[in-house]
Amino acid sequence: MPIINRIAEFHDDMKTWRQHLHANPELGFDCFETAAFVRQRLEEFGVDEIHDGIAQTGLVAIINGQGEGPTIGLRADMDALPIQEARDLPYKSKIDGKMHACGHDGHTSMLLGAARYLAETRNFKGRVALIFQPAEEGGAGGDAMCKEGIMERFEVGQVYGIHNFPGMPFGFMGGRAGPLLAAADEFQINITGQGGHAAMPNTTVDSVMIAVQIAQALQTIVSRNLDPVDNAVLSITRIETGTSHNIVPASAFMQGTVRTMKVETRDMIVTRMRAIVEQVAAALGGSAELNYDYGYPATVNHPRETAFALDVARSVAGEALVSDEVPPSMGAEDFAYMLERRPGAYLCLGTGEGAGLHHPEFDFNDEASPIGASYFVKLVETAQPLS
Ligand code: NI
Repeated sequence: MPIINRIAEFHDDMKTWRQHLHANPELGFDCFETAAFVRQRLEEFGVDEIHDGIAQTGLVAIINGQGEGPTIGLRADMDALPIQEARDLPYKSKIDGKMHACGHDGHTSMLLGAARYLAETRNFKGRVALIFQPAEEGGAGGDAMCKEGIMERFEVGQVYGIHNFPGMPFGFMGGRAGPLLAAADEFQINITGQGGHAAMPNTTVDSVMIAVQIAQALQTIVSRNLDPVDNAVLSITRIETGTSHNIVPASAFMQGTVRTMKVETRDMIVTRMRAIVEQVAAALGGSAELNYDYGYPATVNHPRETAFALDVARSVAGEALVSDEVPPSMGAEDFAYMLERRPGAYLCLGTGEGAGLHHPEFDFNDEASPIGASYFVKLVETAQPLS
């Protein structure tokens, strides 16, 4: 596998950084120690500029190449998850109830590895913007950094990210043009009926019946309104109502999630949901209100940049280990916001056998670090070559 030799030489350093981050997880926007650690490493490498405190704990570092040229953005996420680590690793989390269960410790270390190499060699023209973001796991830290203007301020022309995936073969790299991950939204429904004695239902408006009918009718959106070759999920995950066997409750509450791959599909689902919720409740004599919270949008890879990224991946992982047909997943990713603002691509990096993402036994596979770091470096050297 053509890992860059110089990067292979600091594989042990990447492992040390990663295990330090693993032992010291931070959540959401509270990535203060992590950001300080990243900053220290970047200073040691001699990058040209470090801008921190973006979206509280995000950083952007700039490395100048040789001569004029565009700026390419490379992104890593830094935050951990509120999970109690189950394994007794030598570098296990020092903080109860928090752990790096999604491998963002690995993403950060791989981007640091790439930064060290790029600052040392500068085998490219233009500039690299290294984007270290907090709050990927909810909180939309990437969106917050974009809203603080990083794309404009640092003149980022295109942007790339990767995610480790246990369960995919070790060293595999893949993606697809178009939607790769879903938009993840949540909703609440407040139903108002009229309470009363369960033995005299004719004097009540039964909010239990309204909730049940709404739940059933909502399931017709995916089965009857959605184009059958399109994909979406509408899950009702919570229904709460009632206090006793002999009381018809006056109100009910429902909650759930919607996952979609296309903006049009998302819009259609919200429109249909609103109609069903309001009109089913009205038909049964009550009323209901839908609160729809838009979450992360779909992660949509740009075709040209995805083809480019996969070519670069082939040069690192080898032809046989690269796929341009990774099936889309209904998971979601904050990097979606960056891809809404700039062309770019998000690829999966296989890390072989092991516990899955967000599992209490998860541990990032350090053997994959040189692959990810080499990929980041080759993106830069290939996109902005010294000619
Ligand atoms: Ni993740």
